[in-house]
Amino acid sequence: MFVGSDVEEIAATKTVEQLRELRTKLLGKKSRLSQDLAGLTKLPPDQRRAEGERLNRRKRELEAAFDERERALAVGQLDTALERERVDVTLPGRPLRVGRHHPITATIRELTRVFTGMGFEAVEGPEVEWDYYNFEVLNIPRDHPAREKYASLWVSNPLGDDPQRPMLLRTHTSPMQARIMERRKPPVRVIVPGRCFRYEATDPTHESIFFQFEGLAIDDRLTMADLKGVLYSFARQMFGGDRKIRFRNDYFPFVEPGADVAVDCFVCDGKGCRTCGHSGWIELLGAGMVHPNVLRAVGYDPDRYQGFAFGGGVERLSQLRQGVPDLRAFQQNDVRWLSAFGQVS
Ligand code: DAH
Repeated sequence: MFVGSDVEEIAATKTVEQLRELRTKLLGKKSRLSQDLAGLTKLPPDQRRAEGERLNRRKRELEAAFDERERALAVGQLDTALERERVDVTLPGRPLRVGRHHPITATIRELTRVFTGMGFEAVEGPEVEWDYYNFEVLNIPRDHPAREKYASLWVSNPLGDDPQRPMLLRTHTSPMQARIMERRKPPVRVIVPGRCFRYEATDPTHESIFFQFEGLAIDDRLTMADLKGVLYSFARQMFGGDRKIRFRNDYFPFVEPGADVAVDCFVCDGKGCRTCGHSGWIELLGAGMVHPNVLRAVGYDPDRYQGFAFGGGVERLSQLRQGVPDLRAFQQNDVRWLSAFGQVS
């Protein structure tokens, strides 16, 4: 037996697999060495001891050689892996694709920032709404002509339709006025952005899905001057410090008096241009003092509390601020449009 040449063979293995095979061959159950060790009992007692010592020494030598080679191979593998996976820190980085906020999201965040800065709290409400909140409680009873303005999408109630309690996709964010007042005591100051729906044919200025923002403030000494102050500040923060606002009488069943609110055109400074339709003014919102009938319907005493409400279109704000001509683009999810008009936050 030439232990020396076996040890050399072990040292010459190139891979962990080779080494494992060689270990089975030299030390496994069927190896010569194992058989010799098993055959020791058959030797005459006077030879057994010396032969036993010799075989065991050989076994230890081989085991030591295997262990040493195993360590060396492991280190070698690590070195090659490190070499192969080396990171070249001098290479220029790959650019990250940064997503953008949809213009509607960006506008909602911006207007929410403006109103929360004035003490309003942002809340959201359900898109599927009861007729009661969308119309009834807002002083628009079932046969009221104002309902015609809101071409509604009625939905059937998954729990069974009740003709007394119809359901629809909300046509405006105003239903949240009553939902909030029912749950809270004055003072109330909320801003409610959200998706609304109307049964409309789609064209460059109409969409059946669109966003509104609703404002509501109720307290015991609020007047129309407060409404004007809040909207004046809003207009200047959204469209620049030189802006003026205009209130004109308008009718909405849930406010009295009601107004349409316009801002002087920030493109032509009120002289008249395409953006403002040559009128010098851009209509932004409907607004007014909350109607006593609405206050009563939610259990507020109109002799003790008053307040104002306003509501406007989010896309319209976004269109004006960013010069988007076609309303339909907001719902089309065209990535090219989104990367042009979307905003990096
Ligand atoms: N909800 C109305 C609409 O969609 C807008 C509106 C007008 C909201 C007057 C108000 C308001 O809060 O006071 O046409």
